[in-house]
Amino acid sequence: QIFGESRKNSASINIDIESEWTPFNAAIQAFSQHQWQAGPIVNGVTLDGEQHAITAPYNRSESVGQVAFSSASQVAQAIDVASEAYPAWSQVAASERGECLQRLADLLELHTGELVALCHREAGKTIQDSIDEIREAVDFCRFYGEQASSELASAKSIKSFDGSTKQLTYQGRGVFACISPWNFPLAIFLGQVSAALAAGNTVVAKPAEQTSLIAYRAIELMLEAGIPAGAIQLLPGTGAEVGATLTTDVRIAGVAFTGSTETAQRINRSLVARDCEAVPFIAETGGQNAMIVDSTALPEQVVRDVVRSAFASAGQRCSALRVLFVQADIADRIITLIKGAMAELSVGRPELHSTDVGPVIDIAAKEKLLTHIESLKNQSTLVAQTQLSDECKLGDFVAPTAFEINSIDILKNENFGPILHIVRFKANEIDQVVDQINHTGFGLTLGVHSRNERTYCRIEQRARVGNCYINRDQVGAVVGVQPFGGQGLSGTGPKAGGPHYLYRFTKDVLSA
Ligand code: SER
Repeated sequence: QIFGESRKNSASINIDIESEWTPFNAAIQAFSQHQWQAGPIVNGVTLDGEQHAITAPYNRSESVGQVAFSSASQVAQAIDVASEAYPAWSQVAASERGECLQRLADLLELHTGELVALCHREAGKTIQDSIDEIREAVDFCRFYGEQASSELASAKSIKSFDGSTKQLTYQGRGVFACISPWNFPLAIFLGQVSAALAAGNTVVAKPAEQTSLIAYRAIELMLEAGIPAGAIQLLPGTGAEVGATLTTDVRIAGVAFTGSTETAQRINRSLVARDCEAVPFIAETGGQNAMIVDSTALPEQVVRDVVRSAFASAGQRCSALRVLFVQADIADRIITLIKGAMAELSVGRPELHSTDVGPVIDIAAKEKLLTHIESLKNQSTLVAQTQLSDECKLGDFVAPTAFEINSIDILKNENFGPILHIVRFKANEIDQVVDQINHTGFGLTLGVHSRNERTYCRIEQRARVGNCYINRDQVGAVVGVQPFGGQGLSGTGPKAGGPHYLYRFTKDVLSA
């Protein structure tokens, strides 16, 4: 009960209520033309480097700002600074570290208008997704800050079998590398960093190269919140350069990573290859997320949850639905309803309230998704594809697309975008369906729609996934409410926003 009773999740803004929307929109509009600048931050100082232009994913002629990427020597310098700062930061009382994160959460809320504008323009998220992004970042800071204050601040008494009492204290591990993705450029960025700091580590953070501007702004707010300049370093740049340099350095005492399974495997190999102690590696990676719908499910509810799970955020959530298994008896009806719902989706400029699906992150992502769509046209049935409006030509948009396929086995990789694959199954095949899903090796989210308790309990027991959602959508885990993380190829755990995450960033010391 870290979060439940004493605090609530960050409040939302209802963009459909005029009196809430108008002042909030004014705050967003103040940044509609703003140009942000970013670069490496080492010991509180912004350094120069090779400049990269950031443009809006929904309109590539709209400039959002410039970022300087970090050089190899700046990466080394950042690790030097974080190493030197570690002893002092680790000695700061856990409750005080927690207080810094509470102040950061307050500052994030104070700057919500700017951060929503930045998230929307740099990452191409809809306004609602951008609001949710800032709220999740606030929640992570408050959640880990409170956990540091309540659980790490004092020694834990352990009753031993021999009747004696021992004391366990929790300490940081050293310099943590936090490597975060573009799909939650503030929430996951700050989730990792705030956990590492709360636990008493100093941090070198590498944001995704597509979304460095919002990460830079977050570090500015961290410094304003009183986090010492030595404790947090920012290293914008590519994974191939900055990421690889970080994860081969023997001074890195742990890595938190969210991104693709392939990159996690690469990082794991480079950590193991170092000639030094083994360190924690916390990876949250991809999925081949499925939903199983049996004939007792409520069709309208299924379709609402399928459409949100597969197409909201342009399918760019690691939790998003990729493969819908529908019992053959109701498949035609469900597919007809999905077609109808997809025809109503509005794809376009993400700042419009009417927009359901915005752009994907960049041209490389778009081309990969279009290649997958083309390859499926030859081996499966196109169910529906939403129309793109003319304005979509300005940016990197992919039309929500649904295919009927024969088997999940034809999907070799995660397709990180608005593409849904539908497979029919017979009533007596539910166990085989779960086995096929397990066989992919991924295990992030699973949706189940059934009104038969025995069926959904059986599926839940048999499935090897981190988050199983019954009779609802399968995206949008809330910090402290639905701890989030997978198993198998989908991640190492512990779950972000859950009770055990912070401990993975610590070492525990016994005084006997
Ligand atoms: N935590 C997000 C969700 O649940 C995915 O990264 O949608």
